[in-house]
Amino acid sequence: MDKILVTGGLGFIGSHTVVELQNSGYEVVIIDDLSNSSIDILDRITTITGIRPQFEQLDLKEKTKVSSFFKNHNDIKGIIHFAASKAVGESVENPLMYYENNINTLVYVLQELKKLDHANFIFSSSCTVYGQADELPITENAPVKKAESPYGNTKQIGEEIISDTCKVNPKLKSIALRYFNPIGAHDSANIGELPIGVPQNLVPFITQTAIGLRDQLSVFGNDYPTPDGTCIRDYIHVVDLAKAHVVALERLLQNKNESNYETFNLGTGKGSSVLEVIQSFERVSGQKLNYKIADRRAGDVIAAYADTSKANNELGWKAQLTLDDAMKSAWKWEQNIRKNA
Ligand code: UD1
Repeated sequence: MDKILVTGGLGFIGSHTVVELQNSGYEVVIIDDLSNSSIDILDRITTITGIRPQFEQLDLKEKTKVSSFFKNHNDIKGIIHFAASKAVGESVENPLMYYENNINTLVYVLQELKKLDHANFIFSSSCTVYGQADELPITENAPVKKAESPYGNTKQIGEEIISDTCKVNPKLKSIALRYFNPIGAHDSANIGELPIGVPQNLVPFITQTAIGLRDQLSVFGNDYPTPDGTCIRDYIHVVDLAKAHVVALERLLQNKNESNYETFNLGTGKGSSVLEVIQSFERVSGQKLNYKIADRRAGDVIAAYADTSKANNELGWKAQLTLDDAMKSAWKWEQNIRKNA
């Protein structure tokens, strides 16, 4: 059974990926510093899969600890690297924190991988690297646009660091996965998204409004050049996204990659407007959502959705779940955590 390291494995996408790795028969070791996650998630993963993953609380900024971790785990076959900060607004307020948390840590991990005979490395990137793309749907060949925030910049720089490292280190194989908008939760409602404070992202704001934690959702702008005037995104169910990580890792483990650094878009290929997301929520929950139209939010692109042909053809992966599935699971998760709170 191959041993896979998941950094940030107690976070939103990380925890769902741990479940899918375990379901596919991998042994998982999680590193997490618990800065934006909770240790309870370890129990919840165990409830879903029946297997408790190994866990080490470790801050990847502590270089010497990272080094000893890899010395003690020299049988790791693959690394999925989620650990990073991800709040756009916070990154604008505190850029150095973002460069330290997202870039220094990546460099430390890659320095350790350089010491290994072989390493298979999956990196969490984002469609944010494309900015407002000139053509839709967005292919992997679309130009990377100047980042709108330090957070976005850490994803672009992160990809460059990995690509540069792969060029001179053929034993390192890596895939950067560019996520579109991950939403939803595990169907068991044991794990899901747990934003700290007021959610900045659309779906947790919707479910928190419906449960009564927020008064009203503001729809940021209805005068965009789109069919209903609201922005369009490619919302992908987190369980589909998690499965894509397993498939990408297996591509590397089985030497099926075409070069030692590759990028893939992970989305559904379908764009949905903010109003369509609200309608989907209302349909699956049977509730009316309290929302109003507000001003545009600075930095929002008009429309972004993926061309998924590269992931479909080369990874053999395709998103299976619908927007309604995702909204249903997000709502079930919200109800479950508030019931137990
Ligand atoms: C945001 C980040 C992106 C990051 C991603 C992670 C920004 C500008 N971008 O993407 O870099 O990779 O999260 O998940 O923050 N909306 C409302 N009302 C709300 C919240 C959102 O109308 O209260 C709208 C937004 O204007 C947007 C859509 O919903 O059109 C999705 O927003 P959000 O969930 O924040 O995702 P992105 O902005 O696409």
